[in-house]
Formats: sequence, structure tokens, C-alpha cells
Amino acid sequence: STATKLANRSFSNCMMNAAGVWCMDEAELTAIDDSAAGTFVTKSGTLVSRPGNPEPRYYETALGSINSMGLPNHGIDYYLDVVAAFQKKNPGKTYFLSCTGFSIEQDQTLLRKIKDSEFNGIVELNLSCPNVPGKPQIGYDFETVDQILAAVFAEYDGPLGVKLPPYFDLVHFDQMAVILNKYPLAYINSINSIGNGLYIDDEKEEVVIKPKNGFGGIGGEYVKPTALANVHAFYQRLKPEIQIIGTGGITSGRDVFEHILCGASMVQVGTELAKEGPQVFERLTKELQDIMAAKGYTTLADFRGKLRHQ
Ligand code: DHB
Repeated sequence: STATKLANRSFSNCMMNAAGVWCMDEAELTAIDDSAAGTFVTKSGTLVSRPGNPEPRYYETALGSINSMGLPNHGIDYYLDVVAAFQKKNPGKTYFLSCTGFSIEQDQTLLRKIKDSEFNGIVELNLSCPNVPGKPQIGYDFETVDQILAAVFAEYDGPLGVKLPPYFDLVHFDQMAVILNKYPLAYINSINSIGNGLYIDDEKEEVVIKPKNGFGGIGGEYVKPTALANVHAFYQRLKPEIQIIGTGGITSGRDVFEHILCGASMVQVGTELAKEGPQVFERLTKELQDIMAAKGYTTLADFRGKLRHQ
């Protein structure tokens, strides 16, 4: 079985979409809900809806993707309404709602709205959008992350996790883990895209996306080793109550296996979902099942976090 548990909720499959991909509106969320994925997460909702950055703003490359979407979304109220309808349709299923504010006050307002709604799922607070011109990735400002988490947990007591940017320095893992361990987080999600890469078309001698002179978040095969490093570094440093969602570079069941071996309890698929569509979950599930069968594993717990060090 590829079933899992997160925040004491059960999921029939450990795989789901990554926020931002195939989750903008009710029709896209319905396609994920009807797929082999265990659940979905919405596009990050902001207090007020946003058109996002000018197009082209997403580009698929041979090894992955580059994007500078700029948080296009229908606003938190839309996602609360849509998820409430899914909850009514499938009372046993737990859904994820992603949200992001542009200040601590906005984060608190978002959480208050969620608390006052019918939402009974898991909140994913996005601390890592790299694509809003002039706004740094919050996850790289450790003091602000600490302040946001203090404010958020003063406001909200339901299950909540944070989506983090990739870190690249072992001391940064140490420092961020000290902060995260102070709070009753249900989980962390590593990684968001590697921010502000530059993909260019050498034939045209031109960038491939329009916003920010072509700079954008990198996803896909390029990022898997960075994603696995972040999953495993946090697995070794976080208190066991904080679970991990592994995101980054999943194109096969083998990649899912590797994320779980590094400590992930659940995984999210972004670039490959954009490329293949929701039927990707059926393929990945079969591929993971085959690997587990060949190794004699019957549950994810048989190998989760059990990566060996020489
Ligand atoms: C966007 C990109 C991200 O990586 C993210 O975490 C949130 C939003 C975007 O550009 O829309």
C-alpha cells in the first residue's frame, strides 16, 4: 500500500499535486480529486485575488521548468468556498488549503478567515514564493519566519504546515530547525522551486519567460538532489511530531521512493504534473508499488527515513 498519515489524517495515497500546479480553480481541483492522488492542495490564496505576472510566465525545458507566475489566484474566499464543497462531497477526505500573505498582519487575517470558515483540512502556509517583484522569499529571512510562526500559532490551532524554499548550507538547516521546533507545526514541505534561475534560448539569444527579465523558479529534474537534501536534513533535525512533505524533481516512482527513504511522509508533484496531467499519479503509484514489491516492502513505514549513512 502507498497509503500514508499526516497530521493524524489518513490518505489513500502519499502522492498529491504541488501547490501552484493544476489547482487554480474548481475544474482543475476536480481533476486531481478524481485522479489516483491521495488529495490536493489549492493554489496559494491571497487576501485579494491577483492576475499574476505577464505571460509567458511558465516554460517547460528538457530537464524541468522555469516559472514566474507571480501568485495568480482567485483569492482565499474562493478557495474556502471550493474546498467546502469538496468536503461536503467527500466527508472522509482531508484537503490542503495553501495561502500566503504579504505581511504578518495579512497572514493573521488569512488564518482568522480560515478559522471562521467550515474548513476542516490542513493549511499550508507558503513562505517561499520567489516571483513577486520586490518581495524577497520570506523563508530566507529567519527572524521574520520566527515572527510569522509566533503570530500564526497565536491565531490558529488547527493542523498547519509551511512550504519552505530550498536551503543550501548545513548551518542554515541547523538554524531553521531550531526555529521550526519551537512551534506545533504539523509538517514542513521542502522544497519550493529553486528561486531565480535563468533559462535562455541560445538560438534566439533570448530569455523564455517575460517577467523579471526571464528570471524564475526552477523545478523538475534539476532540483531533485537539492530537494532530497532538504527533506533529509530536516528529517534529521526536526522533532518527530513535525512530519515532512517532500517536493522536488519527482518524475518516477523511484523518485517518490527516494523522497520517502529520505524521510518524507507524503510527496508532491509539480513540473511532471504540469507536463503529463493528473494521470501521472496512476503511473507513479504503479511504479512505486513495483519497487516496494521487489524490495519486499508492504508499507511506507518499512523504509521511511531509513536512508543509510556509510
Ligand atoms: C508562485 C511561485 C511559487 O514558487 C510559490 O511558492 C508561490 C507562488 C507564483 O509565482 O505564483
